[in-house]
Formats: sequence, structure tokens, C-alpha cells
Amino acid sequence: MTGLPPQYRERTTPAGRLPAFPWDSLAGAKARAAAHPDGMIDLSIGTPVDGVFESARAGLAAASAVPGYPQTAGTPELRAAIAGAMERRHGVVGLSAERGVLPVVGTKEAIAWLPFLLGVGEGHTVVIPELSYPTYEVGARMAGARVVRADSLTQLGPSRPTLMYVNSPGNPSGRVLGVDHLRKVVSWARERGVIVVSDECYLGLDWELEAPSILDPRVCDGDFTGLLAVHSLSKAANLASYRAGWLCGDESLVQDLLALRRHAGLMVPGPIQSAMVASLDDDHSVDVQRGRYGRRRAVLRAAVEGAGFRVDDSDGGLYLWATRDGAAADGHATSDQPTTADSAETCRDLVDWFADRGILVAPGEFYGPKGVRHVRIGLTASDEAIEVAAGRLRSS
Ligand SMILES: Cc1ncc(COP(=O)(O)O)c(C=O)c1O
Repeated sequence: MTGLPPQYRERTTPAGRLPAFPWDSLAGAKARAAAHPDGMIDLSIGTPVDGVFESARAGLAAASAVPGYPQTAGTPELRAAIAGAMERRHGVVGLSAERGVLPVVGTKEAIAWLPFLLGVGEGHTVVIPELSYPTYEVGARMAGARVVRADSLTQLGPSRPTLMYVNSPGNPSGRVLGVDHLRKVVSWARERGVIVVSDECYLGLDWELEAPSILDPRVCDGDFTGLLAVHSLSKAANLASYRAGWLCGDESLVQDLLALRRHAGLMVPGPIQSAMVASLDDDHSVDVQRGRYGRRRAVLRAAVEGAGFRVDDSDGGLYLWATRDGAAADGHATSDQPTTADSAETCRDLVDWFADRGILVAPGEFYGPKGVRHVRIGLTASDEAIEVAAGRLRSS
């Protein structure tokens, strides 16, 4: 329902099918963290804080005087740069720069519209991970499809969904899916004709376990049928503000999406396409950024564990997925005694515990019911802020 006067026809907008926007519910914890005498450190969101690399800025500037409309398909240079980087950085061979890659205006919009643009709607089922980036559910619901949360194929039984998301390294848990796991997903999906969308926006940020692409020949034997990989320059390349990403894989799916996105005007701005080429050609920048996050992760992880938390999964990506266990037999924990936590403690209690130390983290329930005992702690803060947060945790 909208707020229009009664003479306007009644309509049902997809907004009615969407879950509540969860971040609004963090306002109380934010105020609590902001009340810390030395200020708040925000580790609740995954937005980059380091400066944009010079290569990308130069690429942007080089095209800033071009007045014409950009191509939805991307310039030939951009498509070649994407295919080249997928091969060099992620070992994906055989991707057609001509027909197998498609730039998008950041991957959030691509994910939100993907089910609809692929013809997934009422009567269809979309499978998303138990703990997942909220936009998978949003996109499926906007299209009118049913959403099922599952991490294992056995959970799905004989069902035949239309589309299935995997995300490795995962948000929020940092779970990494190895070659064997992804191979099983691909073969299961091929048998049933299920499209697999692999969100790989944290690929390259794997710490403890290697995270392969779904298009890696060890996973799909060089056959991209029914497979789409989603890639972003927001994380490993530190370019979230530019809104730059791409889809790649199955050529028939990519070409269908291109045809629709051309009609809908979903095109990446020309100067951003130029910046993407420069960023994709600059492998050194992703090495530098990876080094930064790796160091921050080591400092924060030690401090989080030292404060009595257990870090689960978190083998890749930009977050620590933390909880407290070792519940006291008498269950009489206080918020100052992390090692004797009450077993009934929820993610909101943990958010408050961090907020009392001036640190804002995200409650795990934002990402699915299974997240109710965890918090997500971001690595996307400056070295100084990470040090201060670690210091507060050490003295807690
Ligand atoms: C799993 C996952 N996919 C996609 C995105 C969207 O990234 P962007 O729109 O910046 O490409 C995010 C952002 O946090 C994410 O965590």
C-alpha cells in the first residue's frame, strides 16, 4: 500500500514482500557505543576505509571528458581486462571476453535484480545459504519467488529449485567452500537444471583455506553451463564508492542478462569502466590491500579470542564470526565476564557487550536465524582504529 489518495488504483508493490530493513534496529547499540568516552569504532559494516589506489583514479580521470553514453556490455578493453584478471588472479580459463562477461553497477544491484531478470518468479524456489548476505533474499522476494535456506545438498532432498546461491568466502561467517564442495554443488545442480550463482566478491581474500571460483577448471571442468560468478571491485580492490562489478560464466545467461539490462539502462558509467580497466590491470594494488586486511585480521582475531570469544569459520573474507561458549554451569555470567557467558546469550547481548566498549558490531541474526548466537566483526577499519579496538578488548 502507498500513501496515495483513494482515487488511485490499489497496487501491491514488491516492497510488501521484503523483510524489514535490519540496520535500523542497531540504533540503540550505536548510541551506546558512541557514548564511550574515547569514541566509537564502527566494525559493523564492510565498507573500505583506505584511499582509492592511484591506478583507478588515473583510469577514472582519463575518461572524465568523454560525453557519450557508455555501452551496457562494457568497452572491449573492459571485457578483456575482466577475462584477463579472472585468469591471472583466479585461474579461470576459457572465459569469453566477447560473450561471457558483463559489467554491473556494483554487485548489489545485480544480485537484487538477478532472479527477476532471469525469469525466476512465482512458483520458483531460490536457495540461499543459511547465513547470507540479505540481498539474495531481497532479490528472490522482489521477483516473487520462494526462498529456502540451506547449506547442504542433502537438506534439499529431491527438490528442484530454479536458482541457488553459494558465497565463498562467505558473508557473514567467512566460510570457505573448497574444490570438492563446489564440485558436488555443480554436479547436483547440473543434474537438476538448477542455475548456480556463485557470489565471489571476497575471492582473493582467503586466509586459512584456498577459496576457488566456481568457474575454476578444478570445480567445473571448464564447462560453465548454468554457472554465473559474481565479482566486485568493492572489497579486494578497495573501490566500493565507484560501484563496479561484473557477472561472468554461462554465455547464454550472460547474453540474456545483457539484452535486458540494455533495455533497462543498467549500464556502468564510462569513466568508471575506464577506472575498472586500470584497477583490473593493477594486480599489485590487490596484493597491497590483501596485506592490510591480513594484518588487521591477525591483530583483531587475537584480541577477540583473548577476550573470551570463539571465532568460527572466518577462513576468508572481511569479517570475524564470533560467539562466546564455555557457558558457566550456574549460568550466572555478567557482561564483564566473557569467559563465563550464559549459554542463552544472544547476538544482541554480544552486540551490547561490544557497544559498552565503544565498538559497534553486527548481530548475526541479520544474516539468518542461525546467526542468533554470533556477531560479525568487520576488518574494514584503519590500522589505528583496529589497534584501539584491540586495546579495548585486551583490557576488558
Ligand atoms: C556477499 C556480498 N555480496 C555482494 C555485496 C555487494 O557488494 P557491491 O555492491 O559493493 O559490489 C556485498 C557487500 O557487502 C557482500 O557482502
